[in-house]
Amino acid sequence: MTTSPRAVRRATTADAKVLVRILADSFQDDPPLMWIIPDPDDRRRLSPGFFRPFLDIVLATGDAHITEGQTGAAMWLDVDIAAAAEEDSGELRQFLVSGIGAEYAERFFVLDSMFSAKHPNHESHDYLLFVGVIPLVQNQGVGGGLLSHRLVGLDEAGRAAYVEASSTRNAALYARLGFSPMGDPIKLPDGPALYPMWRPPASG
Ligand SMILES: CC(C)(COP(=O)(O)OP(=O)(O)OC[C@H]1O[C@@H](n2cnc3c(N)ncnc32)[C@H](O)[C@@H]1OP(=O)(O)O)[C@@H](O)C(=O)NCCC(=O)NCCS
Repeated sequence: MTTSPRAVRRATTADAKVLVRILADSFQDDPPLMWIIPDPDDRRRLSPGFFRPFLDIVLATGDAHITEGQTGAAMWLDVDIAAAAEEDSGELRQFLVSGIGAEYAERFFVLDSMFSAKHPNHESHDYLLFVGVIPLVQNQGVGGGLLSHRLVGLDEAGRAAYVEASSTRNAALYARLGFSPMGDPIKLPDGPALYPMWRPPASG
């Protein structure tokens, strides 16, 4: 039996290198990543070092997904509102500084503090940290399939989801999948706006 290249499965540490490459390829024109690492050569070179520390956290505590054809990947974090106060970003800071350098890591932490200030804390949920599809096959349904895979599970579990859409075009994709705008956009200093969106589990 052959597996469809679009079939989605949970990623493991064995997929880490490929998964990081998928996200690095996918995000080169992503407005927030362009804001964090404005120089295109640095962005291309350093992106794997940007995504890797997040992937390590997600593989340990959340869910990473990859398509069988290795064209798309997503990272989801469990946000438990009872545990949120205990989070410590010290280790992430250290890994990001060694991954992308202190200057760019500081730019990420500006974004991160703006994200944290707006992050919903009224209900535990899955947080879509990153989803990416390599440019060659974007706009062919791979990303929608990747996200639906997780959202079906969340509906079954009665669990909500949250994302900051990095463009209005992305926001339209999330809206088609059941997300709604939540509060005002987050405007990075001299940079792009991001659109917080919340998705309650589908009922029935
Ligand atoms: C966003 C993304 C994951 C969607 O995956 P996909 O397989 O291309 O999307 P699908 O074919 O399932 O759905 C198409 C919809 O996705 C969105 N989309 C597709 N390509 C996109 C791109 N390059 N940038 C932003 N959104 C895109 C649009 O809403 C599009 O619908 P439209 O053509 O009517 O505007 C993918 O395009 C991508 O990796 N983009 C760059 C990285 C990124 O923006 N990640 C999300 C950060 S919040």
